Amino acid sequence: MKKTVKHILNQKKRGKVTMLTCYDYSFACILDKSGFDIILVGDSLANVVLGLDETRKISFSQMRDHTKAVAKGVKNSLLVVDMPYVSCHKGVQLSLRHARKFIEYGAQAVKVEWFKGCEPIIKKLIKNNIAVMGHIGLTPQTAHLLGGYKVQGRDEASAKRLTSQAKVLEEMGVFSIVLECVPTDLAKSITKAVSVPTIGIGAGKHCDGQVLVLYDLLGLSRGKRPKFVRVYKDLSGDIQKAAESFASDVKKGRYPASKESY
Ligand code: KIV
Repeated sequence: MKKTVKHILNQKKRGKVTMLTCYDYSFACILDKSGFDIILVGDSLANVVLGLDETRKISFSQMRDHTKAVAKGVKNSLLVVDMPYVSCHKGVQLSLRHARKFIEYGAQAVKVEWFKGCEPIIKKLIKNNIAVMGHIGLTPQTAHLLGGYKVQGRDEASAKRLTSQAKVLEEMGVFSIVLECVPTDLAKSITKAVSVPTIGIGAGKHCDGQVLVLYDLLGLSRGKRPKFVRVYKDLSGDIQKAAESFASDVKKGRYPASKESY
């Protein structure tokens, strides 16, 4: 059965919310069968698929194409799409136009990363019946303004700021809030303070749900792994071996065999 925003809201009392990122049709079919509550077309697409060094460099059309592909494979999970930096930082009207497009392409909701001045955008989307997931803590689109990719909310002032952002998001009517890279105790107190589910990534075990980047979980992403990543299957070695076996079979005339030929 197709998950709804209401289902996610109810999870606050019933059990943990599961969320994973996805960027293409084939993975979407697999993840949808695995029963995830939420599949997110994250703008981490920029890093793990497109090889860009910052998520804010991704374009609307890149997010659009991958949203369309993922939507084709998602029948049961709630499909959420990240609003890219280029959509949210050029005014309320463009944000609304792009969010409507994502819904048209098959998403049920969009995620907006917190930035100074994001409130009118989130209000506008919600007023226009677009479900919004908030995202606070380490917000990669504006990491350059936060002192880089660092844990947020370690000192009292920034912990207060994050708590107040979560309350503002709740008041505006978001249906869930991603907490990225915040200390466990702060995530716990924010989770208690708001009535909507919190979904943690590097935010400890007390959040109402957890999300990971698919390519991290499968050992496919490049570069330094954040502490919170658990690699459930290290596929990069297996993929390399499979590719090398194919190359070697071709060189040695072992591929294709007659049963693989017409
Ligand atoms: O883009 C992304 O993958 C995300 C998750 C880390 C929550 O926003």
